[in-house]
Amino acid sequence: MLTIQQQIETLRQTLHEHNYNYYILSQPTISDLEFDKLMQQLIDLEAQYPEFHDPNSPSVRVGSDINKSFSQVTHRYPMLSLQNTYSESEISDFYNRVQKALNEDFEIVCELKFDGTSISLIYENGQLAQAVTRGDGKQGDDVTANVRTIRNVPLVLRGENIPDYVEVRGEIMMSWNTFEKLNEERAQQEEPLFANPRNAASGTLKLQDSRVVASRKLESYMYYLLGESLPTNSHFDNMLLARTWGLNVSTSMNRCRTIEEVFEFLRYWHVERKNLPVATDGVVLKVDSLSQQRNLGFTSKFPRWAIAYKFEAEKAITRLDSVSYQVGRTGAVTPVANLEPVLLSGTTVKRASLYNEDAINALDLYIGDMVFVEKGGEIIPKITGVDKEARFLLGEKVVFARRCPDCGALLVRDEGEAVHYCPNSDGCPPQIKGRIEHFVTRKAMNITIGPENIAQLYDNNLIHDAADLYTLQFHDLINLERWARTSALNLLESIEKSKSVSYEKVLFALGIRFVGETVAQKLAQAFPNIDALAQATFEQLIEVEEIGGRIAQSVIDAFLNPKFIDFVERLRVHGVQLSLSEDILASKTDKLNGLTIVISGTFELHSRDEYKTMILQNGGKNSGSVSKNTDYILAGDNMGPAKLEKAEKLGVKVIDERAFLEMLR
Ligand code: IVH
Repeated sequence: MLTIQQQIETLRQTLHEHNYNYYILSQPTISDLEFDKLMQQLIDLEAQYPEFHDPNSPSVRVGSDINKSFSQVTHRYPMLSLQNTYSESEISDFYNRVQKALNEDFEIVCELKFDGTSISLIYENGQLAQAVTRGDGKQGDDVTANVRTIRNVPLVLRGENIPDYVEVRGEIMMSWNTFEKLNEERAQQEEPLFANPRNAASGTLKLQDSRVVASRKLESYMYYLLGESLPTNSHFDNMLLARTWGLNVSTSMNRCRTIEEVFEFLRYWHVERKNLPVATDGVVLKVDSLSQQRNLGFTSKFPRWAIAYKFEAEKAITRLDSVSYQVGRTGAVTPVANLEPVLLSGTTVKRASLYNEDAINALDLYIGDMVFVEKGGEIIPKITGVDKEARFLLGEKVVFARRCPDCGALLVRDEGEAVHYCPNSDGCPPQIKGRIEHFVTRKAMNITIGPENIAQLYDNNLIHDAADLYTLQFHDLINLERWARTSALNLLESIEKSKSVSYEKVLFALGIRFVGETVAQKLAQAFPNIDALAQATFEQLIEVEEIGGRIAQSVIDAFLNPKFIDFVERLRVHGVQLSLSEDILASKTDKLNGLTIVISGTFELHSRDEYKTMILQNGGKNSGSVSKNTDYILAGDNMGPAKLEKAEKLGVKVIDERAFLEMLR
């Protein structure tokens, strides 16, 4: 029979190995379901026996909500940057310089230059001890808790020849796919978009809540080892070994014996990089031998043994035909440049974002201008300049619209803000249609109807807002173009089904500014029906976790608007859920308001999860570790001795399950 501790360790070992097979080798040997089952076993055991806690357990990937600002760490080896060049002839110069300085045979390792945010991972005795950002190169932020949630960062190294102390340098990246999805979600929630995956990765790494970090699907790409006792004298061989330890080292690298081989690598990846899942912005060349690297040394800023060859951002020149404006559901007005179609990085570009009034003024644009269009790390192409030499007949100067292009209302721009808004939210068609589109999304009412059909119903005067969806009749739909019996019935059924969508989703669907999915959940918990929310004061609102002044004011403003109140009332009449379900309500009290309770040990009467739910439902807070903020420890059998000692030291009250249930009676 294995002891509990042995069971936990075996599970951890097994899960680490499966992670390696999955994330590094891309050859999983068990199904996701089996993996999840093992993980759940581990999570349950760890919850039951907190005394066997390990910061590098595979279960830490889920993150925690413990808020802490980052502490500064001094790098043992400074994090330097590289000399950059865009020209092949400077690569030849580098090669010749190295040759002259070494005056012996050497090899050059070519690798991709990953365009993310740099990280230093410190492993002590094979365990991830610390993860630090570059910072100013000398000192960086300790982001260990966040990095532990990144799936392809091994928490424990495996295999052989692992030094007692090793620093692994690399980049934290967000794949193009994840980046696009994240921005789509952010657009929906009216949060500012990330300009490129690099900004998204570095912004994510600096978040305080590692659970959010865990949900963002970051990835690591590692490219350099540092330490006093590295396994071999070759950078290339060390990186291959590091891969067997479980680190994600790219296989797109080559050890070159001649400059021709180097150029071959550059030219190949210049084209091929477009097929990679992550952004790269060049190739890094490194002298392979570590002793030769030491001989070459450093200038005041860069190593002399390495150089970065950067791919030029692809540029094109084309004519500006016109400028149009898009109005979003919030009334924000975005200017768009309509261009004479031009080929750029394999796609035809017809439009580019012009961002806002300041960006337009900075470009000093005239209709008919020849403009430079670039597609760098960004997805949406941007205009980076005007070829003023090519101007001979000046077209009309581009000035930001004064009126909404759709409804004609005078636009407003608040002081200190870059964005123009159309204030006519109740009468401006794209805003109305945008709000209906938001109402029906999967995460809100989940009604299956697309933007084109919404526009058709709106243009045919069948709906004027989302509440009108509930008045639609079969004969309304069947008489419209492109509608058949089945599609009409499907829509009506999906609308009917939405009446049982839970209150928190309805709250999100209402489209109150700044009330995204999570905020809606928090509000629903704190104000279990719409009338309670409508009557909430500013002070009551900001008392709710994560609700700040901006959100509170927006909720208050919404309920001061008679049109909004009328909209909510019509939803009520149609039977949409405007309060938490009876089940949840029945078991909700505020008996534990303001109390923080830690659960420890095993119980007879209820499971740990049930106790956790009871704490939350009665207004308390459940925390994983004992601190001076803990009010009670709900202790079962086998409570960890360390916890007990800490509780006694801090004078925290320890209660058993009967005493706890008594508190709730
Ligand atoms: S080597 C002392 N290799 O680019 C040299 N850096 O502009 C250590 N980068 O600071 C860096 N991919 O953040 C190296 N394959 C790669 C890289 C790479 C991306 C980043 C890294 C570095 C910056 C230099």
